[in-house]
Amino acid sequence: MQAIRKLAHFLKPYWLWAILAPLAMLVEVVMDLTQPQMMQRIIDNGVAARDMNYVLMSAGLMIVFALIGAIGGIGCTIYTFKASQGFGADLRAGLFRKVQTLSFRNLDQFDTGQLVTRLTNDVTQMQEAVAALLRIMVRAPLLMIGSLIMAILTAPQLAFIPFALIPLVLAGVWWIISRAYPLYGEVQTRLDSLNTVMQENLAGVRVVKAFVRAGKEIERFGAANVNLTNQLIKVARVTAVTMPMMMILMNVGVAGVLWFGGNQALAGVMHIGQIVAFVNYLQQTLMSLLMVSMLVLQVSRAAASAQRIEKVMDSTPDVQNKPTALREFAPRGRVAFENVTFSYDGHAGDPVLKDITFVAEPGQTVALLGSTGAGKSSLVHLIPRFYDVTGGRVTIDGVDVRDIDQTVLHRNIGIALQETVLFSGAIRDNIRYGHPGASDEEVIAAAKAAQAHDFITGMPDGYDTQLGQRGVNLSGGQKQRIAIARALLIKPTVLILDDSTSAVDVETEVEIQAALVEAQSERDQTIFVIAQRISTVLNADKILVIEDGQIAAQGRHAELLVSSPIYRDIYDSQLGSGNHGGNGENGHE
Ligand code: CTP
Ligand code: MG
Repeated sequence: MQAIRKLAHFLKPYWLWAILAPLAMLVEVVMDLTQPQMMQRIIDNGVAARDMNYVLMSAGLMIVFALIGAIGGIGCTIYTFKASQGFGADLRAGLFRKVQTLSFRNLDQFDTGQLVTRLTNDVTQMQEAVAALLRIMVRAPLLMIGSLIMAILTAPQLAFIPFALIPLVLAGVWWIISRAYPLYGEVQTRLDSLNTVMQENLAGVRVVKAFVRAGKEIERFGAANVNLTNQLIKVARVTAVTMPMMMILMNVGVAGVLWFGGNQALAGVMHIGQIVAFVNYLQQTLMSLLMVSMLVLQVSRAAASAQRIEKVMDSTPDVQNKPTALREFAPRGRVAFENVTFSYDGHAGDPVLKDITFVAEPGQTVALLGSTGAGKSSLVHLIPRFYDVTGGRVTIDGVDVRDIDQTVLHRNIGIALQETVLFSGAIRDNIRYGHPGASDEEVIAAAKAAQAHDFITGMPDGYDTQLGQRGVNLSGGQKQRIAIARALLIKPTVLILDDSTSAVDVETEVEIQAALVEAQSERDQTIFVIAQRISTVLNADKILVIEDGQIAAQGRHAELLVSSPIYRDIYDSQLGSGNHGGNGENGHE
């Protein structure tokens, strides 16, 4: 419930609709309440007295009242729709905005499937609860109490019947809700699982095909699907009792009215019209009571959804700007790691990086080499503050990265992530993703440096070629080169290429490197290159050999060949022994 209150402010812009809806409903309820009264009058005063004029007049009046009620009802529906849909849209947008602010560490905590469920199904649950509240919150209690009063006024002798039935209905509804409610939480969890399987499969459908796992994946999806269905059936089995139970109780009530009322009518102390009106009021009372109960159930369901949404809304990005963060910062690009320790689970976990200390001077190229899982990507992710260090500090021009405004920091760092992600849309827009205002010349220059210009212009639509989702109509190396161009375009002070040429042939890689060196000399760019191929790092100003989260050795190629056995091993395994001459043995440069 608290979560609902916290999210209630999303309804604020729609307060006018949210007030008008119950008011319009009030009109409908009042009109509804007059109907049994009118019926009674027609029967007792008109039909009994064979007064046709009176019957027609009253019937006409009934229709007029019904019309007024209908207008109120329609108004209520429209206002409710405006308020609840607006609320839902804003909540969805707010949630989406929140997801955008989450840090890498926050995002590690949510499956994409979970986020999808929250953005869609959970928001819909809340939106429907708001709609139900606006429509029923006023209607049902008013109608219930109004009908009860009218029933008593109509035939006080029969008043004991509703009072006997109300506790029975309440007991029945309580029985249903207390059984159904716990089942609903599980529905959302199973929906999460289903969405996770679905999302993984849609994203990874090519891998599924490649490994002929379609059968297994269909099974996995089927299992999640059946799980969800079973749970929904379980809920339905409980809630299915509702209407039959109501009908039985209601008919018991009607039978009671007819029995006691009939006797009194025969004795001449009661009119037929009174009995008809009383039956109507009784039915309205009990149905309204049921509606109130169902509303309680729906709101408590929405509370579960609200909690799940709040969990996302509430997660504070652990990487945040300090109030004093530097907003003006034009660094030269001296990146220093000072005794940096880092663990993905904060201080508790095993450190992935241990006591890393090195300096990258402006204009230098620092290469990171090391076996898979050694911590290379983790290391460079600390520079743009994707994660914060656990110990020590990372500085740019002597300023701790935690003291720099993130937008400013990111504007100075161009990064091509290890896993290339492109967006659907034109190639041009993908390249200028970090700087949408870039001119065509700038886009082309970046593409040329990344050795992407030729293959782009070779495509029928050139830079306007539309990429499918995740850039599927490009080769792996082509995607990588667009990602490099994207990083180059923002003309960063610090450029980070995380294994960005792994899918590019050696010759193209050499050309990219040459272009980088050229750009570097213009701007004194500091470049970090992570590479598997030793040929990529031969000319680096500094090579860091990362072993098990530590710097096992650092220096230039020639120094490391002498001083570091690990480096020599890597070198020998890739380029063969007896070839320790230094630069250029691939025939390039
Ligand atoms: N790791 C983790 N949580 C992440 C990313 C990585 O716990 N979100 C762990 C990995 O399990 C690994 C270690 O951190 O043991 C280092 O990972 P990483 O820095 O990505 O290694 P790389 O050296 O970049 O490995 P590769 O060459 O395969 O990219
Ligand atoms: Mg990596």
